[in-house]
Amino acid sequence: MNIAIIGCGTMGMIYARNLGKMPGVTVSAVADLIAERANRAAEACGAAAYTDWEQMLEEVKPETVAVCVPTYLHKSFTLELAKRGIHIICEKPAALTLEDAKAMEAECHKHGVRLFIGHVVRFFPNYRNAFDQVQSGKIGVPKMAHFKRFASYPQGVDLWYHDRSKSGGVIMDLMIHDIDYACWLFGDVESVYASVTEPSLSGMEYAQVTLKFFSGAIANLTGFWGYAGPFTTQFEISGTGGIIQFDSNQVQSLDLKIASEGVQRAAVQVPSSPTVHDPYYNEVKYFIECIRNGSEPLVTAADATRAVEIALACERSAQTGQPVQVGGNAL
Ligand SMILES: NC(=O)c1ccc[n+]([C@@H]2O[C@H](COP(=O)([O-])OP(=O)(O)OC[C@H]3O[C@@H](n4cnc5c(N)ncnc54)[C@H](O)[C@@H]3O)[C@@H](O)[C@H]2O)c1
Repeated sequence: MNIAIIGCGTMGMIYARNLGKMPGVTVSAVADLIAERANRAAEACGAAAYTDWEQMLEEVKPETVAVCVPTYLHKSFTLELAKRGIHIICEKPAALTLEDAKAMEAECHKHGVRLFIGHVVRFFPNYRNAFDQVQSGKIGVPKMAHFKRFASYPQGVDLWYHDRSKSGGVIMDLMIHDIDYACWLFGDVESVYASVTEPSLSGMEYAQVTLKFFSGAIANLTGFWGYAGPFTTQFEISGTGGIIQFDSNQVQSLDLKIASEGVQRAAVQVPSSPTVHDPYYNEVKYFIECIRNGSEPLVTAADATRAVEIALACERSAQTGQPVQVGGNAL
């Protein structure tokens, strides 16, 4: 598989490191507007570095491209790549509007290319394990859940995360991980009720959301940008016969501090997993297998579009102060 990466910031570097060591995969090239970033990612995976992504596509002709640019650029890159017949592994969230997410799906379908959106939480072993336990009926019928996700205030190049018109804000960017996971667990969402603090100069955005599912299940989600501690995720899933609890701060079996990484802080915090198999590695390996054997992925582009639609309903609820039906108006 001949792969290229566009966007060599936080996520682009994760892809470069993971794809660079994946058997059966060659990262032929990487592109970033900032030459220094392209060079750093190229070095991590033994690829050629470009600052012009179009020139890169013409010269290396990749079969698949990993799209790791800021969210507001996902749609335009996806449409350009689909038109060229290239498969796409795009970071989450799929897009900032429902129309854009649907346009991405439609264009990929039209050109016969695959589109995968990186909802990586489904590949975190603890989350996967909890899903399997629920599916097997261990806790009876699942009824209620709570999900929390706390991260520092992201920086990113040109501070695009701070602009809701570019990142979508804390619900669209961060909480969407748990929105997607909750849908995997409980099925489709009927209505939402949300509140979110206004982004402030102090660098904090805190959101609380209640999702009501068609199944009757309820999930409460908290998303926080501006947390002073380590990246933290927690969940609690309760059913008629038991409860499953998880706290990322309680399960780190190794405390690894790499001297060369020193006190440098990534622009955006990315959760880690204590297991040998990195979920980001497993996710991209799995997507590549889906391209090779033509199988449907665990998380489809349609799932990712639905997650965007639910996140947008949460935004509408937060703005109006009213519960909102997904795909409809205030209740
Ligand atoms: N799955 C996860 O856990 C996770 C974590 C963090 C971020 N993300 C998502 O990944 C995406 C990227 O986030 P990030 O934190 O890596 O951003 P970032 O700002 O660190 O990196 C984005 C890079 O894209 C480059 N870029 C912008 N326009 C370009 C263009 N036209 N051509 C080439 N390069 C261009 C920028 O120069 C920058 O280096 C976002 O959608 C974000 O929501 C996902």
